[in-house]
Amino acid sequence: IKVAVLYGGQSAEREVSLNTGKAVYQALMDAGFTAGLIDVSRNVAAELQTISPDVAFIALHGPGGEDGAIQGLLETIGIPYTGSGVLASAMAMDKIVTKRILDVTGIATAAYAVFDSGKDNLEENSKVIRKNISGKLVVKAPNQGSSIGIYFVEPQDNLENAIKEALKYDKKILIERFISGIEVTASVIGNDKPEVLPLIEIVSHTGVYDYKAKYTKGLSDHVIPARITQDATKVVEKLSVETYRALGCKGLARVDFMVTEEGDPFVLEVNTIPGMTETSLFPDAARAAGRSFPELVAELVRLAME
Ligand code: DAL
Ligand code: MG
Repeated sequence: IKVAVLYGGQSAEREVSLNTGKAVYQALMDAGFTAGLIDVSRNVAAELQTISPDVAFIALHGPGGEDGAIQGLLETIGIPYTGSGVLASAMAMDKIVTKRILDVTGIATAAYAVFDSGKDNLEENSKVIRKNISGKLVVKAPNQGSSIGIYFVEPQDNLENAIKEALKYDKKILIERFISGIEVTASVIGNDKPEVLPLIEIVSHTGVYDYKAKYTKGLSDHVIPARITQDATKVVEKLSVETYRALGCKGLARVDFMVTEEGDPFVLEVNTIPGMTETSLFPDAARAAGRSFPELVAELVRLAME
Protein backbone atom coordinates (compact mmCIF):
# COMPACT_ATOMS: atom_id res chain seq x y z
CA ILE A 1 0.00 0.00 0.00
CA LYS A 2 1.39 3.37 -1.05
CA VAL A 3 0.81 6.16 1.46
CA ALA A 4 1.42 9.88 0.88
CA VAL A 5 2.05 11.71 4.14
CA LEU A 6 0.82 15.29 3.85
CA TYR A 7 2.67 17.51 6.31
CA GLY A 8 4.00 21.02 6.87
CA GLY A 9 1.55 23.42 5.30
CA GLN A 10 1.22 27.09 6.13
CA SER A 11 -0.65 27.27 9.45
CA ALA A 12 0.80 28.60 12.70
CA GLU A 13 1.25 24.92 13.67
CA ARG A 14 3.60 24.19 10.73
CA GLU A 15 6.49 23.25 13.02
CA VAL A 16 4.34 20.79 14.97
CA SER A 17 3.10 19.29 11.71
CA LEU A 18 6.64 18.80 10.40
CA ASN A 19 7.36 16.71 13.49
CA THR A 20 4.08 14.79 13.25
CA GLY A 21 4.73 14.09 9.55
CA LYS A 22 8.29 12.83 10.00
CA ALA A 23 7.25 10.56 12.89
CA VAL A 24 4.29 9.18 10.95
CA TYR A 25 6.44 8.62 7.83
CA GLN A 26 9.00 6.65 9.83
CA ALA A 27 6.30 4.60 11.57
CA LEU A 28 4.63 3.78 8.23
CA MET A 29 7.96 2.55 6.86
CA ASP A 30 8.49 0.48 10.03
CA ALA A 31 5.03 -0.98 9.55
CA GLY A 32 5.89 -2.11 6.03
CA PHE A 33 4.13 0.54 3.94
CA THR A 34 5.60 2.37 0.97
CA ALA A 35 5.51 6.00 2.05
CA GLY A 36 6.35 9.42 0.68
CA LEU A 37 6.27 12.88 2.25
CA ILE A 38 4.60 15.91 0.69
CA ASP A 39 5.13 19.34 2.26
CA VAL A 40 1.78 20.88 1.40
CA SER A 41 1.87 23.94 -0.84
CA ARG A 42 -0.22 25.14 -3.78
CA ASN A 43 1.30 22.28 -5.84
CA VAL A 44 -0.19 19.57 -3.66
CA ALA A 45 -2.81 18.40 -6.19
CA ALA A 46 -0.20 17.94 -8.93
CA GLU A 47 2.19 16.17 -6.55
CA LEU A 48 -0.57 13.79 -5.44
CA GLN A 49 -1.48 13.02 -9.03
CA THR A 50 2.17 12.23 -9.82
CA ILE A 51 2.59 9.91 -6.82
CA SER A 52 -0.92 8.45 -7.13
CA PRO A 53 -1.05 7.02 -3.59
CA ASP A 54 -3.60 4.48 -2.39
CA VAL A 55 -4.26 6.65 0.64
CA ALA A 56 -3.19 10.01 2.05
CA PHE A 57 -2.13 10.28 5.69
CA ILE A 58 -2.97 13.82 6.76
CA ALA A 59 -0.34 14.95 9.25
CA LEU A 60 -1.29 18.62 9.10
CA HIS A 61 -2.48 20.75 12.01
CA GLY A 62 -4.50 23.94 11.98
CA PRO A 63 -6.30 25.83 9.19
CA GLY A 64 -5.74 24.38 5.70
CA GLY A 65 -5.04 20.88 6.98
CA GLU A 66 -7.34 20.18 9.88
CA ASP A 67 -10.32 22.28 8.78
CA GLY A 68 -11.73 20.35 5.83
CA ALA A 69 -9.85 22.21 3.08
CA ILE A 70 -7.35 19.48 2.18
CA GLN A 71 -10.02 16.86 2.89
CA GLY A 72 -12.21 18.50 0.21
CA LEU A 73 -9.36 18.44 -2.28
CA LEU A 74 -8.74 14.75 -1.61
CA GLU A 75 -12.45 13.99 -2.03
CA THR A 76 -12.40 15.82 -5.35
CA ILE A 77 -9.43 13.90 -6.72
CA GLY A 78 -10.66 10.62 -5.23
CA ILE A 79 -7.92 9.70 -2.78
CA PRO A 80 -8.96 8.13 0.56
CA TYR A 81 -7.46 9.89 3.58
CA THR A 82 -7.00 9.38 7.30
CA GLY A 83 -9.24 11.02 9.86
CA SER A 84 -12.46 12.98 9.63
CA GLY A 85 -14.27 14.18 6.53
CA VAL A 86 -14.89 17.75 5.38
CA LEU A 87 -17.78 18.70 7.66
CA ALA A 88 -16.49 17.20 10.91
CA SER A 89 -13.04 18.68 10.27
CA ALA A 90 -14.48 22.12 9.59
CA MET A 91 -16.72 22.06 12.65
CA ALA A 92 -14.04 20.80 15.03
CA MET A 93 -11.48 23.35 13.81
CA ASP A 94 -13.81 26.15 14.86
CA LYS A 95 -14.13 26.23 18.63
CA ILE A 96 -17.27 28.41 18.44
CA VAL A 97 -19.07 25.99 16.10
CA THR A 98 -17.90 23.08 18.30
CA LYS A 99 -19.40 24.77 21.39
CA ARG A 100 -22.72 25.30 19.62
CA ILE A 101 -22.88 21.63 18.58
CA LEU A 102 -21.96 20.49 22.09
CA ASP A 103 -24.61 22.83 23.52
CA VAL A 104 -27.45 21.47 21.41
CA THR A 105 -26.28 17.91 22.09
CA GLY A 106 -26.35 18.55 25.84
CA ILE A 107 -22.65 17.92 26.41
CA ALA A 108 -21.17 19.91 29.29
CA THR A 109 -18.86 22.77 28.28
CA ALA A 110 -17.85 25.98 30.05
CA ALA A 111 -20.20 28.98 29.93
CA TYR A 112 -19.24 31.15 26.98
CA ALA A 113 -19.85 34.25 24.92
CA VAL A 114 -18.91 35.16 21.37
CA PHE A 115 -17.47 38.53 20.38
CA ASP A 116 -18.23 39.26 16.72
CA SER A 117 -16.09 42.15 15.47
CA GLY A 118 -18.49 42.58 12.54
CA LYS A 119 -21.29 43.78 14.78
CA ASP A 120 -20.23 44.04 18.43
CA ASN A 121 -18.77 47.03 20.25
CA LEU A 122 -15.63 45.95 22.10
CA GLU A 123 -16.05 48.19 25.16
CA GLU A 124 -19.76 47.56 25.69
CA ASN A 125 -19.52 43.85 24.96
CA SER A 126 -16.60 43.31 27.30
CA LYS A 127 -18.68 44.81 30.11
CA VAL A 128 -21.67 42.60 29.30
CA ILE A 129 -19.46 39.49 29.16
CA ARG A 130 -17.86 40.39 32.51
CA LYS A 131 -21.33 40.75 34.01
CA ASN A 132 -22.59 37.44 32.58
CA ILE A 133 -19.58 35.23 33.19
CA SER A 134 -17.92 35.56 36.57
CA GLY A 135 -14.32 34.96 37.58
CA LYS A 136 -11.32 34.14 35.46
CA LEU A 137 -11.92 33.99 31.69
CA VAL A 138 -10.23 32.35 28.72
CA VAL A 139 -10.19 34.26 25.44
CA LYS A 140 -9.68 32.10 22.36
CA ALA A 141 -9.13 32.74 18.69
CA PRO A 142 -11.44 29.93 17.54
CA ASN A 143 -9.48 28.54 14.57
CA GLN A 144 -6.04 27.83 16.00
CA GLY A 145 -4.44 24.87 17.74
CA SER A 146 -1.60 24.14 20.17
CA SER A 147 -2.84 27.00 22.43
CA ILE A 148 -1.99 29.64 19.82
CA GLY A 149 -4.24 32.71 20.21
CA ILE A 150 -5.38 31.78 23.73
CA TYR A 151 -5.29 34.30 26.59
CA PHE A 152 -6.13 33.83 30.27
CA VAL A 153 -7.79 36.86 31.85
CA GLU A 154 -7.90 37.25 35.62
CA PRO A 155 -10.89 39.12 37.14
CA GLN A 156 -8.75 42.26 37.60
CA ASP A 157 -7.22 42.08 34.10
CA ASN A 158 -8.40 43.98 31.04
CA LEU A 159 -10.70 41.78 28.92
CA GLU A 160 -10.74 44.21 25.99
CA ASN A 161 -6.99 43.93 25.48
CA ALA A 162 -7.14 40.12 25.40
CA ILE A 163 -9.96 40.19 22.84
CA LYS A 164 -7.93 42.67 20.76
CA GLU A 165 -4.96 40.28 20.78
CA ALA A 166 -7.16 37.35 19.72
CA LEU A 167 -8.64 39.49 16.91
CA LYS A 168 -5.24 39.30 15.21
CA TYR A 169 -6.19 35.72 14.27
CA ASP A 170 -9.95 35.80 13.72
CA LYS A 171 -12.99 38.03 13.31
CA LYS A 172 -15.05 36.20 15.92
CA ILE A 173 -13.63 35.42 19.35
CA LEU A 174 -14.69 32.87 21.94
CA ILE A 175 -14.73 33.93 25.59
CA GLU A 176 -15.18 31.14 28.13
CA ARG A 177 -15.38 30.79 31.87
CA PHE A 178 -12.11 29.32 33.12
CA ILE A 179 -12.66 25.86 34.58
CA SER A 180 -10.11 24.93 37.19
CA GLY A 181 -9.26 21.32 37.81
CA ILE A 182 -7.39 18.51 36.11
CA GLU A 183 -6.76 18.61 32.36
CA VAL A 184 -7.57 15.23 30.85
CA THR A 185 -7.50 14.13 27.24
CA ALA A 186 -9.43 11.30 25.62
CA SER A 187 -7.96 9.71 22.51
CA VAL A 188 -10.72 8.23 20.39
CA ILE A 189 -10.09 5.82 17.51
CA GLY A 190 -12.46 4.14 15.07
CA ASN A 191 -15.18 4.78 12.51
CA ASP A 192 -18.66 3.53 13.39
CA LYS A 193 -17.59 1.97 16.70
CA PRO A 194 -15.22 4.47 18.27
CA GLU A 195 -12.99 3.19 21.06
CA VAL A 196 -11.61 5.40 23.84
CA LEU A 197 -7.95 4.75 24.63
CA PRO A 198 -6.67 5.16 28.23
CA LEU A 199 -7.25 8.71 29.49
CA ILE A 200 -4.21 10.90 29.98
CA GLU A 201 -3.84 13.54 32.66
CA ILE A 202 -1.73 16.48 31.59
CA VAL A 203 0.56 18.00 34.16
CA SER A 204 2.26 21.23 33.16
CA HIS A 205 5.25 22.34 35.20
CA THR A 206 4.78 25.97 34.16
CA GLY A 207 1.25 26.40 35.52
CA VAL A 208 -0.29 26.63 32.05
CA TYR A 209 -0.37 24.04 29.26
CA ASP A 210 0.55 26.47 26.50
CA TYR A 211 2.61 26.09 23.30
CA LYS A 212 5.90 26.13 25.20
CA ALA A 213 4.76 23.61 27.81
CA LYS A 214 3.38 21.38 25.05
CA TYR A 215 6.52 21.20 22.96
CA THR A 216 9.46 21.72 25.29
CA LYS A 217 10.82 18.49 26.71
CA GLY A 218 10.41 18.29 30.47
CA LEU A 219 7.87 21.12 30.82
CA SER A 220 4.88 18.78 30.94
CA ASP A 221 4.13 15.18 31.87
CA HIS A 222 1.53 12.67 30.77
CA VAL A 223 0.03 10.63 33.61
CA ILE A 224 -1.66 7.42 32.42
CA PRO A 225 -4.26 6.59 33.52
CA ALA A 226 -5.49 10.04 34.57
CA ARG A 227 -5.81 10.42 38.36
CA ILE A 228 -9.56 10.98 38.43
CA THR A 229 -12.23 8.78 40.01
CA GLN A 230 -13.65 5.75 38.20
CA ASP A 231 -16.96 7.53 37.94
CA ALA A 232 -15.37 10.61 36.36
CA THR A 233 -13.40 8.35 34.02
CA LYS A 234 -16.61 6.72 32.83
CA VAL A 235 -18.26 10.10 32.25
CA VAL A 236 -15.25 11.39 30.28
CA GLU A 237 -15.26 8.23 28.14
CA LYS A 238 -18.98 8.55 27.49
CA LEU A 239 -18.79 12.28 26.70
CA SER A 240 -15.84 11.80 24.37
CA VAL A 241 -17.73 9.24 22.28
CA GLU A 242 -20.85 11.45 22.29
CA THR A 243 -18.73 14.41 21.17
CA TYR A 244 -17.06 12.30 18.46
CA ARG A 245 -20.45 11.20 17.16
CA ALA A 246 -22.07 14.64 17.47
CA LEU A 247 -19.43 16.15 15.19
CA GLY A 248 -19.36 13.11 12.91
CA CYS A 249 -15.67 12.36 13.43
CA LYS A 250 -13.97 9.45 11.71
CA GLY A 251 -10.67 7.61 12.15
CA LEU A 252 -9.42 9.44 15.20
CA ALA A 253 -9.82 12.53 17.35
CA ARG A 254 -8.59 13.73 20.70
CA VAL A 255 -11.19 15.31 22.96
CA ASP A 256 -9.75 17.62 25.63
CA PHE A 257 -11.44 18.03 29.02
CA MET A 258 -11.17 19.88 32.29
CA VAL A 259 -12.36 17.78 35.22
CA THR A 260 -13.28 19.84 38.28
CA GLU A 261 -12.33 18.93 41.84
CA GLU A 262 -15.89 17.64 42.27
CA GLY A 263 -15.26 15.25 39.37
CA ASP A 264 -17.40 17.04 36.76
CA PRO A 265 -15.92 16.92 33.24
CA PHE A 266 -16.30 19.80 30.78
CA VAL A 267 -15.33 19.41 27.13
CA LEU A 268 -12.80 22.03 26.04
CA GLU A 269 -12.35 21.19 22.39
CA VAL A 270 -11.82 18.49 19.78
CA ASN A 271 -8.65 17.91 17.77
CA THR A 272 -9.35 15.94 14.62
CA ILE A 273 -5.65 15.69 13.81
CA PRO A 274 -3.94 15.43 17.17
CA GLY A 275 -0.17 15.76 17.42
CA MET A 276 1.44 12.46 16.40
CA THR A 277 5.08 12.71 17.28
CA GLU A 278 6.45 9.73 19.19
CA THR A 279 5.98 11.64 22.47
CA SER A 280 2.57 13.16 21.72
CA LEU A 281 -0.53 12.40 23.73
CA PHE A 282 -2.40 10.20 21.23
CA PRO A 283 0.48 7.75 20.56
CA ASP A 284 1.09 7.61 24.32
CA ALA A 285 -2.53 6.59 24.90
CA ALA A 286 -2.25 3.96 22.15
CA ARG A 287 0.92 2.59 23.72
CA ALA A 288 -0.88 2.35 27.07
CA ALA A 289 -3.50 0.27 25.26
CA GLY A 290 -0.80 -2.05 23.92
CA ARG A 291 -0.44 -0.59 20.41
CA SER A 292 2.99 0.49 19.21
CA PHE A 293 3.29 3.67 17.11
CA PRO A 294 3.69 1.69 13.83
CA GLU A 295 0.63 -0.39 14.79
CA LEU A 296 -1.31 2.81 15.45
CA VAL A 297 -0.51 4.40 12.07
CA ALA A 298 -1.31 1.09 10.33
CA GLU A 299 -4.70 1.05 12.04
CA LEU A 300 -5.40 4.64 10.94
CA VAL A 301 -4.56 3.72 7.33
CA ARG A 302 -6.87 0.73 7.54
CA LEU A 303 -9.69 2.91 8.97
CA ALA A 304 -9.16 5.40 6.12
CA MET A 305 -9.68 2.67 3.51
CA GLU A 306 -12.74 1.13 5.20
N1 DAL B 1 -3.20 20.86 17.86
C1 DAL B 1 -2.22 19.95 18.36
C2 DAL B 1 -1.36 19.42 17.28
C3 DAL B 1 -2.83 18.85 19.16
O1 DAL B 1 -3.98 18.94 19.46
O2 DAL B 1 -2.14 17.89 19.47
MG1 MG C 1 -6.64 21.97 19.44
